[in-house]
Amino acid sequence: MKKGLVIAIVIFLIVVGVFAVIKLTTKTNQTTDSPEITSQENNSQEPEVTSPPEVSSGKVHEVRIKGSTFTPSLLNVKMGDTVKWTNWDSMSHTVTSDTGNELDSELLSKDGSYSHVFSVPGTYNYHCTPHPYMKARIIVEA
Ligand code: CO
Repeated sequence: MKKGLVIAIVIFLIVVGVFAVIKLTTKTNQTTDSPEITSQENNSQEPEVTSPPEVSSGKVHEVRIKGSTFTPSLLNVKMGDTVKWTNWDSMSHTVTSDTGNELDSELLSKDGSYSHVFSVPGTYNYHCTPHPYMKARIIVEA
């Protein structure tokens, strides 16, 4: 009976002690919370000035690769325009410049596509590497 009373008192003291510690820690937290006014620094930052991307100004032209033919075979575009080739054939094809390396696609499997932005005016003759008879031309105007 005495033992039980001692245990009860010890538990009571522990509970009181725990409450006291919790009260102390919440009080110290409150005092450290108040002087924080650091968020205003972020608001005063000037917005980043980014120049508009050159790519997005132009049109996107589609060339279809179907029946081992580039369609249209002759395409006139403006400087800054994008040309997108899509392979409709089950056979794989490439989009490859006859001279230079302006156009240099991977081997495009069915539904594969290749896009290129033309930034220099000129005439660009291209072909398909596995099928050299597949020939077409892009003319880029200023
Ligand atoms: Co081909």
